[in-house]
Amino acid sequence: MKKITTALTALTLAFSASMAMASECDPGEVVAKLSHVTGGTTHPKVVAANSLAERVNKEMNGKLCIEVFPSSTLFGDSKELEALLLGDVQILAPSLSKFGSYTRQYGVFDLPFMFKDMDAAIRFTNSDSGKDLLNAMNDVGFVGLGYWMSGMKYFSGNKALILPTDAEGMKFRVQASDVAKAMIAAMGGSPQPMAFSEVYGALQTGVVDGQENTWSNIYTKKFFEVQNSVTETSHQLLAYLFMTSNEFLDGLEPDVRKQFLQIADDVTQEANQNVKAKELANRENILKAGGTINVLTDEQRAAWVDAMKPVWKQFEKDIGAQLIKTAAGA
Ligand code: LMR
Repeated sequence: MKKITTALTALTLAFSASMAMASECDPGEVVAKLSHVTGGTTHPKVVAANSLAERVNKEMNGKLCIEVFPSSTLFGDSKELEALLLGDVQILAPSLSKFGSYTRQYGVFDLPFMFKDMDAAIRFTNSDSGKDLLNAMNDVGFVGLGYWMSGMKYFSGNKALILPTDAEGMKFRVQASDVAKAMIAAMGGSPQPMAFSEVYGALQTGVVDGQENTWSNIYTKKFFEVQNSVTETSHQLLAYLFMTSNEFLDGLEPDVRKQFLQIADDVTQEANQNVKAKELANRENILKAGGTINVLTDEQRAAWVDAMKPVWKQFEKDIGAQLIKTAAGA
């Protein structure tokens, strides 16, 4: 009996939790589900997604309502793009590294040492070429609403990675990106594509020896706890395509669509202005929590650049030489 009561209580609690979320949207409103894979409270994507929902739910009350599902609770990496096309979710913000089966052009964002810092990446995304890339998958049914920056990426390992030769023979988790795979191979490592939600467990159990990510992901997902140290390589950008589907956008009344697109744009500008501070704060949080960060000398960093540079040539045909030149000049 006690078992049944406990089970019923759990069921009631789960039910009220889902009702609480659902009841934030009124019955007559168009509801858009926003699903993403990151967590915590200080992560740039968490902040941007929540800020979008807050503004839409306040300013468009009665017309449109956004429900946010963080930490892969609705869809993880492998299912979310399909789910968007099926109409099971309406807004996503996946990493630009995860679109390889739809467009090769986004490989430009993954090329190692392409952007000196996030400001250079923002300049590129604000250029005509960057804006055109938002429409690269319109024929598939995807609409890019903007780019949300996340930060530069750093390698962590189960041993200190000071020179690229330290990575030889190690297994690294990578996102589903051919460029990332080639980059790890260029270091003499073995790339293991894997969903973000599985990374902590894979590091903890030794399925992989290392990974590459931003300060915010390394802190909020506690990767530093199951790694020897993180090396400040800044070797790659992590940014997201804030996106929806043609079907969802075309289904909105023209005035609702206009207001939504304006808020989407405002939130994107604001989010990108705040990313650097969030990244620095999470770098500090890692140190405060006892994590170790290896800072490279100029010579050590140059060795990483040299090891990875051949990857550019490998992808020149797929991405386009002109696009690579434009991004590199940003
Ligand atoms: C990753 O898979 O490492 C990242 O793309 C996760 C994210 O969305 O920040």
